[in-house]
This record gives sequence, structure tokens and C-alpha cells, in this order.
Amino acid sequence: MKYSYLYTFLLLLLLLVDNSRSKLGARSSLRSGLISRGWRSGVGSNSQWDSTVNNVEQQQQFSPKHVKGLSQIKDYFSNFGFLVSSPPFNDFLNQETATAIKTYQQFFNLNPTADLTNETFHQISLPRCGVPDINLQYDVRSSSVSWPKAGNRWFSGKNLSYGFSPASEIPANATRLFRNAFLRWEKAVAGLNLTEARYDEADIRVGFYNLDEGVEDVVWGESVVRLQHGVATGEIRLDASKDWKLGGGNGSVLDLESAAMHHIGHLLGLDHSNVEDSVMYPYVLPSRQPKVELSNFDKATIRRVYSKGSCGYARGVLVRIIITFALAFAVVGL
Ligand SMILES: *[C@@H]1O[C@H](CO)[C@@H](O)[C@H](O)[C@H]1NC(C)=O
Ligand SMILES: *[C@@H]1O[C@H](CO)[C@@H](O)[C@H](O)[C@H]1NC(C)=O
Ligand SMILES: *[C@@H]1O[C@H](CO)[C@@H](O)[C@H](O)[C@H]1NC(C)=O
Ligand SMILES: *[C@@H]1O[C@H](CO)[C@@H](O)[C@H](O)[C@H]1NC(C)=O
Ligand SMILES: *[C@@H]1O[C@H](CO)[C@@H](O)[C@H](O)[C@H]1NC(C)=O
Ligand SMILES: [Zn+2]
Repeated sequence: MKYSYLYTFLLLLLLLVDNSRSKLGARSSLRSGLISRGWRSGVGSNSQWDSTVNNVEQQQQFSPKHVKGLSQIKDYFSNFGFLVSSPPFNDFLNQETATAIKTYQQFFNLNPTADLTNETFHQISLPRCGVPDINLQYDVRSSSVSWPKAGNRWFSGKNLSYGFSPASEIPANATRLFRNAFLRWEKAVAGLNLTEARYDEADIRVGFYNLDEGVEDVVWGESVVRLQHGVATGEIRLDASKDWKLGGGNGSVLDLESAAMHHIGHLLGLDHSNVEDSVMYPYVLPSRQPKVELSNFDKATIRRVYSKGSCGYARGVLVRIIITFALAFAVVGL
């Protein structure tokens, strides 16, 4: 009987170890934005999110515990993996939120005060990728749609095809930028072969969608892995309502080729990086400077991914087993 308690305890520990959750279910953009739209249906702005951030920023000075609009800031931290609780959220500042703020500040090399500092507000106002930064789970089997996650290869081998959504009517001057981006990644990995194919036969499918408002209006795109009829495909989903820029210098709008580089990186097996010159940095830089070349850090990371072979899943299971045994010995030892 003693051992059944031990077993329960171990199971609980294991659950704790595996507490990263898929935030995808809670994200409405994936449910509502499945219909591909024209690639540029309007000029985007972050006005709604900006006013939320400004309101919370101003109120905070008067009443630190209850801040109208804080629930939306919590939504934001929850969407990107920093707050473990799920919505709906209230407007009270609690310990969990303070911890989430601190984790966020540490991840982005901000002063880790656990308060919503101006520096923090500035960071969360920037346009960013919709994929969570931490605590994301790769789980394509149970929900059929998953975030891509490093260490979980959704394809085998090194031959991959990509295609552009006909419904998005992406003009040639935009697809050309994507081809450049695929070529750059192809050159970075020995043996990688990225070729163009028809959209509905492609491994990586590129399209423009109307992503949702709210927290989503600061999100310029996302990548997901979708399982349909037993076949996994990668999807790059960019926000059709943003004003995409096709090359050129710095500007006030989003650079399409930089976005392409970022999302191809996700689907080839890279997570977000907190290094600003990495193409996997989730935010658009305040200067809006385009970032289309892989940094040395990016090249080193992608080469490490591909030198390991495609046994990410097996490695995950192995790590889980080792942790279980380590915990078992620790508990028995006590
Ligand atoms: C933070 O921003 C608010 C509003 O923009 C401003 O009034 C305040 O002085 C700033 N605080 C610091 C420490 O910069
Ligand atoms: C890629 O495809 C080519 C031609 O279909 C094939 O010869 C090659 O072995 C494939 N490479 C990999 C790594 O699967
Ligand atoms: C890209 O092509 C579209 C459609 O052909 C055209 O309307 C647009 O002006 C072009 N943009 C640039 C920057 O060349
Ligand atoms: C790359 O993939 C294409 C399509 O699968 C194939 O025809 C071609 O032979 C491949 N090239 C190499 C070098 O594997
Ligand atoms: C873009 O901005 C960066 C950083 O502010 C600067 O170094 C670069 O020269 C700018 N490029 C152009 C073309 O303005
Ligand atoms: Zn991203």
C-alpha cells in the first residue's frame, strides 16, 4: 500500500514536470481565421492594443492592486507562455502575475522588477509573432493543430516543399521574397532541399488571414503544424490586415521577407530567441529594421538541430524516463 502512495506522488511530480500547456485551444485566431483572405486587405495599426497599454500604464501610478484593463495584459502574458493560468482574467494584480511579469522581463533582458515598468510596456507594445516564447507544448496528436516546437520534427528527411495559398492571391513581388527566404535557410543546412509545389500538396503552406483583434492586433503572424488525415503540414499564417513592406530600408510597416525568415525558422525547428539580431527574436525591432540574414547564432542553432538527426520525440521520451527514475530514486532514498 505504501507503494501506491509513492506511485501517486511520482505521477503528480511527473504532471508537474510536464506542465507546459498548449495555449492553442484558447486562441481564437486559429478557430476563426481559417479562411484565407486577400493578402493585404487594409492598412493595419495597433491602435486598440496601444490604448489598452496606455490606460494600464497611466492607472498603475494611482492604484497598484486593481488596474482596469490588467486582465488584457494578463491575457497577453498567458498567450505567450508567461502566465500559466488560463483566461478569463480579472484586473487584480496578484503574485502569479508578478511572477509572470518577472519571467517575461528576464526572458527579454529587461530590469526584472516584477512590476509593469515603462520598459515592459514599451516591449509589449511592439508588434510580435503569435507563437509563445516559453511553456509551449508540441501536441499535434490530441488537438490536430499545434505550435511548432524545437526538438519535435513534424517531417522526416530533408526534402520539403512549400506552396502559396491561391485564395490569398499573393502577388509575384511578395512570393519572390518568400523564395529568397527559403533559399537562405536551404543554404544554411547541408542537404536541406526546399522546393516549390502546389499549395495543397506542399509541406509548408503560406497564406494571409484575418487574425483576431484584441491582443491579436499586435500579432503579425504565426506558424502552426496541422495534422490532417495522418499527414502533418506546416502553415505560415500572416495577418492580411497589416501593411506589409516588400523590401527596402527601415519603415513604419512590417517587412515581409523578415517575417518569412522568422516563420520558416519555426517550421524548420527553432524556438524564439531573446537575442535581438536573431531572425527568431519574436518582436519587430523598434527601428523596424528588416532582418533577413541569419545571424551566427541562428546558423549555429539550425546546424545543431540538423546534426542531431530526427529523433526529437524519442529524445523527449528518454528524458521523461530518466527524470522519472531520478525522482523515484530521490524519493526512495529519503
Ligand atoms: C512612465 O510613463 C509615464 C506615462 O508615460 C510617465 O508619466 C512616467 O514618468 C514614466 N516613468 C518613468 C520612471 O519613466
Ligand atoms: C530527396 O529527394 C531526392 C529525389 O526525390 C532523393 O534522391 C533524395 O534521397 C531525397 N533526400 C532525402 C534526404 O530524403
Ligand atoms: C507588388 O505587386 C502588386 C501587384 O502586382 C502591385 O500592386 C504592387 O505595387 C507591387 N509592390 C511593389 C512594392 O512593387
Ligand atoms: C529536391 O527535391 C526535389 C523534389 O522532391 C527533387 O526533385 C530533387 O531531386 C531534390 N534534390 C536533391 C538534391 O535532393
Ligand atoms: C535602419 O536602422 C538601423 C538601426 O537604427 C540603422 O543602423 C540602418 O542604417 C538603417 N537603415 C536604413 C536603410 O535606413
Ligand atoms: Zn515566432
